[in-house]
Amino acid sequence: MTYVRETIVTTKNIDGTTKVSPLGIYIDNTKLKIRPFKPSASLDNILRNRSGVINYIDDVRIFAACITKTNINIEFELAKKIDCSRIKNAISHTEFIVDEIENDSDRPTIICKPVNEEMHNFYYGLNRAKSSVIELCILASRLGIIENSKIKNEIKYLEIAIEKTAGEAEIEAWNCVLKYINNYMNKVDKDA
Ligand SMILES: Cc1cc2nc3c(=O)[nH]c(=O)nc-3n(C[C@H](O)[C@H](O)[C@H](O)COP(=O)(O)O)c2cc1C
Repeated sequence: MTYVRETIVTTKNIDGTTKVSPLGIYIDNTKLKIRPFKPSASLDNILRNRSGVINYIDDVRIFAACITKTNINIEFELAKKIDCSRIKNAISHTEFIVDEIENDSDRPTIICKPVNEEMHNFYYGLNRAKSSVIELCILASRLGIIENSKIKNEIKYLEIAIEKTAGEAEIEAWNCVLKYINNYMNKVDKDA
C-alpha cells in the first residue's frame, strides 16, 4: 500500500511566477513520488527546472482556491536550496530535485530527492472539517466524471463534519468549493 499526503506543490513558471497546485505525494517506502496527470503545468515546470517544493499546509482555503481557480493572496518566500518559491505560511516544506522519472503517456511518476526540509509553524492536529474540504475539492475536480447524484449524496455526508468542527477558514473554503459545484450543476441542468 502507498500512503498519500495531500500537499500543495509550488514550481517555477517559465515567466518566473509561481505555480501553486494541490498534488498528492505518494510515499513508497522512503521515496517521495509525484504523479501528475497530463497535461499539467506543474509537470512541465518540474521537468524543465528539475526541481520544486512540497508545501505541507493546513490552510484548506488554498486547496479550495486552486480547484475553483479563485484568486487569493498567497505569500511566498524563496526556497533555500533550489530556484523556486515556497508558501510562507506552510507548516513545513520539502525542497526537492528530480531523482528519476518513470515515463507514462497519461501519468508519469516523478521520484523526488529532498535537498532541504524546514519547519515554520506548529502543527495543531487533525480536523474533520479540513478533511471534508479536501474531499469536496476532489469531488469538484471530478465534475462530469462522477454522477451529480452521487456527488450530492457525498456532500450531505461531508457537511456533517463542517457543521460540527469547522472554523472560519474551513467554512470559507467549503462555501467557495460548494458554490463552484452548484454553478456547474445549475449550468448542466439548464443545458439539458
Ligand atoms: C487533494 C488533491 C490532490 C490532488 N492530487 C493530484 C495528483 O496526485 N495528480 C494530479 O494529476 N492531480 C491531482 N489533483 C488535481 C490537480 O490539483 C489539478 O488537476 C491541477 O490542475 C493539476 O494541474 P496543474 O499542474 O496544471 O496545476 C489533486 C487535487 C486535490 C484537491
